Amino acid sequence: MTYLSWSDRYSVGSPIVDAEHKELFLIVNEFYENLEDKRGIKDFFPTLNRLIVYAEHHFGSEEKYMKLAGYPEVELREHMRIHEELVDEVFHLYARLRGEEGGATSGVDVGKFIEDWLSNHILDVDKRCEPYFRKLTDAAMT
Ligand SMILES: [Fe+2]
Repeated sequence: MTYLSWSDRYSVGSPIVDAEHKELFLIVNEFYENLEDKRGIKDFFPTLNRLIVYAEHHFGSEEKYMKLAGYPEVELREHMRIHEELVDEVFHLYARLRGEEGGATSGVDVGKFIEDWLSNHILDVDKRCEPYFRKLTDAAMT
């Protein structure tokens, strides 16, 4: 399990969106700390709750900035669909972890999933908005 550390390669050109991504990194790392302490599965739940709540808030604000930045409608819709899928998948993993859905999973599996979830999403999907976010940031600073 690799702790996530922020670097410029994750920047999407918007200080606000970057700050929210950093907050998500902190929550994922907190989840890893729980794992490393070999805590009981129940101890992961508050962190996962925070992750889901914060991710939903963040996706909403990211979508708002995409609109403001003039991100093309078709791509915006596709991006929103990906956000929905991500939240959905975490919900299912969480339910499996709680034993409420079939197909047991472990804290390590959830950890791996959320790490990929966050870093790949930023690097592959959010990065597509970078030129738009940069223009918006530059306009705000002049
Ligand atoms: Fe995104």
